[in-house]
Amino acid sequence: MKSILITGGAGFIGSHVVRLFVKKYPNYKIVNLDALTYAGNLENIVDIEDSPNYKFIKGDICDESLVTQIFKEENITDVIHLAAESHVDRSIKDPLSFVRTNVFGTVTLLNAFVSAWKENFEGHVFYHVSTDEVYGSLDEGGYFLETTPYDPQSPYSASKASSDHFVRAYANTYKLPIKLTNCSNNYGPNQFPEKLIPLMINNIKNNQPLPVYGKGENVRDWLYVIDHARAIDEVFHNGKMGETYNIGGFNEWKNIDIVHLLCSIMDKKLGRQEGESSKLITFVTDRAGHDLRYAIDASKAMNELGWKPSLQFEEGLEKTVDWYLENEEWLERVTSGAYQTYYKEHYA
Ligand code: NAD
Ligand code: DAU
Repeated sequence: MKSILITGGAGFIGSHVVRLFVKKYPNYKIVNLDALTYAGNLENIVDIEDSPNYKFIKGDICDESLVTQIFKEENITDVIHLAAESHVDRSIKDPLSFVRTNVFGTVTLLNAFVSAWKENFEGHVFYHVSTDEVYGSLDEGGYFLETTPYDPQSPYSASKASSDHFVRAYANTYKLPIKLTNCSNNYGPNQFPEKLIPLMINNIKNNQPLPVYGKGENVRDWLYVIDHARAIDEVFHNGKMGETYNIGGFNEWKNIDIVHLLCSIMDKKLGRQEGESSKLITFVTDRAGHDLRYAIDASKAMNELGWKPSLQFEEGLEKTVDWYLENEEWLERVTSGAYQTYYKEHYA
């Protein structure tokens, strides 16, 4: 029987991955290890917390003795590793916390995996979830391929690139059975409102300024979070061992265009006059070292695994807005307290 350690399963993407695996694979045991930082929230997975094949453990992936104990006591066969510090703006203020979790934490998990299965890796997988940001920034043309050289530009992406290198180095040195995915920007329910889309939804709802960095010309490639979770399921089960797959929706948008689209969707939902919310748009100081454009070529995953996104962006965005409007209490809880301090300092 598989006993899969999913790290970061109380976060945005992790919670959707945990839900998918717990529901779809009743014969697997799913162990969710999460430190419950500001970004982790057990409310995200409250609907599956009593499932017989699920167990939550509050703890830090950097805690070597805890991780070793979990491997032994839960007889962990596989790892799907999502736990990370994930916000670029925070990495600019506090790079070391990104090195700690994203690099030291990943290596701690790799070591525990090697110790647990050094006699025989057959049938086991260490799956590392990474980001397209490791490839750097594109100009107007071209795409990131799996073979694009790494060129990380922020402390966040440098820490993720480093963790990817460690995962591949363990495959080379210890013959670790690894799989990696590098995904583009996710959006959808449960995303912490420090990120562009939920931050704008929250501010539009509360009639607050909509802080667009620079001129809003930067381009991101957006994928609905449940489509990312479906891709992880596909790669975990059917992806080739040792391989990397780029995951993305071929769905590029300038930030300013997304903000206008959100304003227009929310004007309708909130009964405001068309154009009312877009008056809140405020251009603010640009992010330091702001990557201009990300664009993923996901052909390998599509051709080899038959995976493709299930939702068009406009449909996904509308579902996302609905989720935030229907989950006001969630939004209010996560934006009270420490969020207020972060917000005031960052957008001062
Ligand atoms: P998130 O910030 O929403 O969640 C991270 C989770 O990890 C939280 O539950 C947090 O409590 C937990 N965590 C943080 N430090 C920990 C530690 N030391 N020990 C244990 N748990 C810890 O992040 P997300 O957006 O869901 O991203 C998940 C993963 O996917 C990350 O590895 C990220 O780099 C990657 N990724 C994210 C995106 C995106 O658009 N959000 C895109 C591609 C890849
Ligand atoms: O590409 C994948 C990455 O996408 C993930 O690895 C990261 O974990 C995730 O945070 C995301 O990184 P970005 O920096 O692209 O996402 P963010 O939502 O922070 O910003 C999206 C764009 O919007 C970016 O160009 C910066 C801009 N922005 C963001 C915020 C928070 C604004 O203009 N205003 C804002 O207030």
